Amino acid sequence: MMNVKDRIDELAAQLKQYNYEYYTQDNPSVTDQEYDALMNELIQLETLYPDLKRADSPTMRIGDTVLDAFDKVTHDIPMMSLSNAFNKEDLRDFDKRIKKAVGEQQYTAEVKIDGLAGALHYNNGTFELAATRGNGTVGEDVTHNVKTIRSIPLTIDYQEPLEVRGEIFMSKRSFEQANKRRTEAGNAPFMNPRNAASGSIRQLDSKIAAKRQLDMFIYSVMEPERHGLTSHYEALQFAKELGFHINPLTERFNTIEEVITFVEDMTEKRDTLSYDIDGIVIKVDDISRYDEIGVTAKSPKWAIAFKFPAEEVLTQ
Ligand code: IVH
Repeated sequence: MMNVKDRIDELAAQLKQYNYEYYTQDNPSVTDQEYDALMNELIQLETLYPDLKRADSPTMRIGDTVLDAFDKVTHDIPMMSLSNAFNKEDLRDFDKRIKKAVGEQQYTAEVKIDGLAGALHYNNGTFELAATRGNGTVGEDVTHNVKTIRSIPLTIDYQEPLEVRGEIFMSKRSFEQANKRRTEAGNAPFMNPRNAASGSIRQLDSKIAAKRQLDMFIYSVMEPERHGLTSHYEALQFAKELGFHINPLTERFNTIEEVITFVEDMTEKRDTLSYDIDGIVIKVDDISRYDEIGVTAKSPKWAIAFKFPAEEVLTQ
């Protein structure tokens, strides 16, 4: 008969794979019932044999930490914001500035997720720390809550120190479910998925964050050259291969006119997505030109956010 440790390892490996299929690839190979049965077996074994619980156990997704307060985290590289474009002319002006600085460039265009920024740190293949943006220089340690986000790998097959950043968000479906539960319990509903996501990530009790079913798309690999990366698009592919959730609506274009067509397509598609977006982020693809292009006090000059017109709120 298999010993307990081997069974725990086997369950952890199976759950990790099923979790990845379901939450990152959106392509499950087992039913929810099969998944829950394996998870329950693992919880039972870990309760009986706490010494055998793995540091990367899938049971951590359920939330098992209650903090007294958040620790502060100083970002090695400040978390900047983006300057905005509101129309095609602003995008063409951006293109002109880029051409003037470094000549013709390819661009990566991706959806701008309406959530909150997060930074994830890995060391020796293990997820160690997650921080919020805070004021851009100092954020808060929200590792306990971020561990409950199922599309974030707790271990990766890459031993070098790695920092990735992205947007933590709540899907429209999870938002509706959370608000249904809140109203039934007599609590005021969340205003929108962004408020719900940021309120959930600021919980001291990770069981609460776990119930809120947050998700995260990774949009940056920090210090890409340390990982042999010179293209932003390829940096996203690199992150994807490591098991991170990358937004599939990401494309690389040769001209700003192609980018503008993408922006128009997405403006139409916007309401059909299962999560809120508030614009499109356009980045110069060639990372090796970033230093030359430079930054302003608040934002890099190699990227711009096209903002959709604010949705009008209709009142009766
Ligand atoms: S790139 C230097 N890409 O939008 C900043 N940001 O002000 C690099 N956001 O708070 C950010 N989706 O959290 C980037 N695909 C995306 C994004 C994205 C959402 C957020 C970001 C930041 C804000 C920009």
